[in-house]
Amino acid sequence: MITDSKTIIVSNRLPVKITEENGVYILSPSEGGLATGLGSIYKNGNNIWIGWPGLEIPLERQDEVREKLAGLNLVPVFLSNEEISLYYEGFSNEVLWPVFHYLVTYANFEQLAWDYYKVVNDKFKAEVLKHLSADDVVWIHDYQLLLLPCLIRTTQPEITIGFFQHIPFPSFEIFRLIPWREELIAGMLGADLLGFHTFDDARHFLSAASRLSSSNLLDNVLIYKNRQVVVEAFPMGIDSDKFDSLTRHEKVAKYTNSFKASLKNVKTILTIDRLDYSKGILQRLQAFELLLEQHPEYIGKLALYMVVVPSRDTVPKYKELKDQIDQFVGNINARFRTINWVPIHYFYRSFSIEFLSAIYSTADICLVTPMRDGMNLVSKEYVASRTTDDGVLILSEMAGASRELTDALIVNPNNIGDIKEAIVKAVNMPPEEQNRRMRSMRAIVSKFNIHLWVKNFMDKLNEVKTMQESLHTK
Ligand code: G6P
Repeated sequence: MITDSKTIIVSNRLPVKITEENGVYILSPSEGGLATGLGSIYKNGNNIWIGWPGLEIPLERQDEVREKLAGLNLVPVFLSNEEISLYYEGFSNEVLWPVFHYLVTYANFEQLAWDYYKVVNDKFKAEVLKHLSADDVVWIHDYQLLLLPCLIRTTQPEITIGFFQHIPFPSFEIFRLIPWREELIAGMLGADLLGFHTFDDARHFLSAASRLSSSNLLDNVLIYKNRQVVVEAFPMGIDSDKFDSLTRHEKVAKYTNSFKASLKNVKTILTIDRLDYSKGILQRLQAFELLLEQHPEYIGKLALYMVVVPSRDTVPKYKELKDQIDQFVGNINARFRTINWVPIHYFYRSFSIEFLSAIYSTADICLVTPMRDGMNLVSKEYVASRTTDDGVLILSEMAGASRELTDALIVNPNNIGDIKEAIVKAVNMPPEEQNRRMRSMRAIVSKFNIHLWVKNFMDKLNEVKTMQESLHTK
């Protein structure tokens, strides 16, 4: 039974942005979904969130940053530029990220990057152990920390550990390509409960774990080193009430009015992604180009608003993608634009949540076509922002969200013709059909929200621990 314990959340990044202005560090809390959801946990009592502050802090200023963060229940793990380059950019984002998104040819299996991945996971372990008491619960997040569950378990065999992976888990045939596959599985099996977004991700993990470790599989439970490790799907939700009520904020209304005024009867398609090759941005641009080629009647009547949020632009594949997008957009705009209409409005920057709310609630269509995505929260944010029950979501079948949002127009992101047809269907969808589909998706997004996700995971972790304890006392 979990009693009067504290909870320690651990993730690569802290839920806060640190920027330096004139030598002063400024902290701004993150608006991200995970930060909101876990806010109900880490902000309470003695609970804490441990993670990297997102930039290199010189040794002489680390105490100052540590103190500032302590006021927010946050604990930093400081990383040197070398660690950032090899553990974060190198192993996390040049091995695990591409392989887990099925882009194996993008992976760079470098021994030194693996060595640093181990060193930094150890560094996280050392910070966790400084704060850990026997009754505590540790909840570790994502692929940057796959070794951490086992590292903690080795020192604290009885501790309660949950792990959630926010990106897909690939099929065994893909996962086995990683040279350090056994170590990664052993690392994850240090947890009591392992959560994934979809049933398929959980199934892929169970298959890889039962082949790569000496464990026995009973349904969704692995018996490993005399312990039970439970594996389950927990599809992550968003703070849907927040997105719903944001649409009524004064600031959002101002943005919405000026956005609408600028449109002049042009229908809008919206896309929002982090800069990432897993998001299918180039394929989507090809589909839009094909649409303009085959349906010249849309010239001057339909525009694509494309927001690309800068991300990992020190990793070579991301730099390359940025150049390709710039070129693609330039070509399409040069080829199809008219004196008073531009086909693609391209933004390479991030926006405030108020601005996002305005464009979500104004866009007639939201086009979400990742090649592979653990969940994809943009699709859910669009739905939660459609308080008037209209608008059409076009969604890739490769996004975890497609298992829940079955009333979207579901497409294969590799099928350019299919995406183009879906856009035509969306532009011409009668209002009644839009309303019917949107209402049913809104009910799902509202019910299976981020708060329920946190509760379900924590309740299950508690249940697993109670079950393990009762087995031990038998
Ligand atoms: C994905 C990952 C997160 C990560 C985020 C932003 O959503 O699942 O773990 O934090 O991308 O990427 P970044 O590399 O900037 O942390």
